[in-house]
Amino acid sequence: MKSQEKTFYIETFGCQMNAHDSEKVIGTLEHEGYRQVETEEEAGLILYNTCSIRDKAEQKVFHRLNDYKKLHKAGKRFGVLGCVAQQEGEKIFERAPYVSLVSGSASYRKLPEMLARLEAGETRITGLDDRQTEETFETEFTARQNPYRGYITIIEGCDKFCAYCVVPYTRGKERSRTSASVLEEARRIADLGYTEIQLLGQNVNSYKDPEGKLSFAELLAAVGQVSGIRRVRFTTSHPRDFTKDIVEAIDAYPTLCDHVHLPVQSGSTRVLKAMAREYTRDWYLERIAWIKSAKRKISLSTDIIVGFPGETADEFIETMDLLAEVQYDCVFGFKYSPRPNTPALVMIDSIPEAEKSHRLQVLLERQREIQRSNYANHLGEILEVMVEGQNPARGQIAGRSSQNKAVNFTTTSPIAPAPGSYMPVRIIATHPNSLVGEAV
Ligand code: SAH
Ligand code: SF4
Ligand code: F3S
Repeated sequence: MKSQEKTFYIETFGCQMNAHDSEKVIGTLEHEGYRQVETEEEAGLILYNTCSIRDKAEQKVFHRLNDYKKLHKAGKRFGVLGCVAQQEGEKIFERAPYVSLVSGSASYRKLPEMLARLEAGETRITGLDDRQTEETFETEFTARQNPYRGYITIIEGCDKFCAYCVVPYTRGKERSRTSASVLEEARRIADLGYTEIQLLGQNVNSYKDPEGKLSFAELLAAVGQVSGIRRVRFTTSHPRDFTKDIVEAIDAYPTLCDHVHLPVQSGSTRVLKAMAREYTRDWYLERIAWIKSAKRKISLSTDIIVGFPGETADEFIETMDLLAEVQYDCVFGFKYSPRPNTPALVMIDSIPEAEKSHRLQVLLERQREIQRSNYANHLGEILEVMVEGQNPARGQIAGRSSQNKAVNFTTTSPIAPAPGSYMPVRIIATHPNSLVGEAV
């Protein structure tokens, strides 16, 4: 009967871990008899999978809830999932009383039970398992939304406690899946026709096989040898746990993509110490030197926070010098945002907003110049590109190189290549953020 049909809408904010969590949540809901719909208006249950990494990200969910709260009168139920849910907990019910479900990611394995309580009419259901949880969220009901890239979470949570960061509080403690279960999922993904796998973890290289069978580098190699898999990516690596054998694995197995995302956060050893990153500038640069001495040219990207409490103009220049030294292919730059519960919150956030914005702008402008010259080096090369989609307006096909660079290209073939297929492309023009080519 139509009126009894269970429907849900989900919107996801934040990182790839969150995006993949949503794939698992959707799979779980579908298994429980729910059908996903495209708009809040069509749905019986409205879910927001939230992010709390910076204040702006956190505000998004409260804007959404406010925009749609009128739908509560029409009998719709609201659930808040993810990092804001874990951080704010029951306070969300005070701020938005029409919300019936609040659950952090460490409690998703209890979703079927929470959904049953929701259907029975309960209004204040919480899943707020914190750092006590040892369990990971494994489900065979993943509804993969990405047609060409299969995500696999190999480690959940974070034990690093960087001074500025909410993640150790919102995602619980570091806990890894067994390598056997990861490899089984990799094989399942390959059987579904995926050729690209991305291994996920807030610190993916802190992976510790609970059965002690494989190290992270060995797991990379094993996933890279799964029949049918042509590309393996992994994100995010933490410098502290970055070992040389990761580079050796990339050299040994061409299926492991030639790209490492290694967040540095700051080029100043003093600031790194204040951030509790637990490495120095030199320690970080040593790891960069390993990566640069690989037989394959490995592309590097990073995250940087400007305006951390007490960051002086000279310390910011140290970060700028580090950019010039490393020559990243991509930098995600952020202004420091004070976050609840974090140790940095009590440090005096002494840098005016305008100065933070100025530093970010200087950083991103310099990085644009670096990328302009890095990307120009690809001119004339033939790269293997995995097709992701089309841009009919510009008559171009969009894809990505193994180094994760966007490549837009034309083909003389009358039939558009399918997403997920691979093509050799000659690079004929370059931009700071993308390459332009033609299929050969
Ligand atoms: N676990 C990864 C990334 C975590 S979050 C790592 O340790 O590198 C992604 C990025 O958000 C971080 O690398 C950092 O650059 C940024 N970030 C985290 N907390 C922040 C805050 N309070 N203000 C501004 N940026 C922040
Ligand atoms: Fe946050 Fe640091 Fe953990 Fe990364 S390593 S998630 S920045 S606490
Ligand atoms: Fe955001 Fe949580 Fe990811 S805070 S960045 S969704 S781990």
